[in-house]
Amino acid sequence: MTQHTASAEETYAYGARLASCLRPGDVVVLTGNLGAGKTALVRGIASGMDVKSQVSSPTFTLLHLHQPGQAGGVALHHFDVYRLDGPDDFIANGLDEYLGGESIALIEWGDRVRQALPDRVIEIDLRYGEGADDRTIRVSFPGDEDRCGI
Ligand SMILES: Nc1ncnc2c1ncn2[C@@H]1O[C@H](COP(=O)(O)OP(=O)(O)O)[C@@H](O)[C@H]1O
Ligand SMILES: [Mg+2]
Repeated sequence: MTQHTASAEETYAYGARLASCLRPGDVVVLTGNLGAGKTALVRGIASGMDVKSQVSSPTFTLLHLHQPGQAGGVALHHFDVYRLDGPDDFIANGLDEYLGGESIALIEWGDRVRQALPDRVIEIDLRYGEGADDRTIRVSFPGDEDRCGI
């Protein structure tokens, strides 16, 4: 499915709706150039999931853990693997231990460590459009195409 947005706020709002399509254990790979809006979308997803802490760009930390805001909620594990050398580096840093389980993993630049991830991942690609604030967001659920109807 494809969504066009014309501002960071619209991307945030779309992320909040997209949260309803995610399930515990999902691993989501986010691709798109620097500034495409990966972190903006993660902020929206976090608001839709109702997690406790604010999402910031994890560029210097690789991973931020966000606990659920309510009992029975789902945790969000937010990765940014831009600085890693590849799948082996992902595993050497122990990051694979934070995938799956009962949490949802959102991985900025996840294509760079694709071989360290489960076979089945959700893919979200963000692209710049014509205007400075235009973005196209493509979401796919391989093997589970009917999952989400937003
Ligand atoms: N439609 C849009 N969607 C998301 N971000 C947008 C949009 N239009 C402008 N922006 C701006 O682009 C930047 C996106 O930054 P960020 O989400 O950190 O990108 P990334 O994580 O992909 O590097 C922000 O400064 C945001 O305000
Ligand atoms: Mg980012």
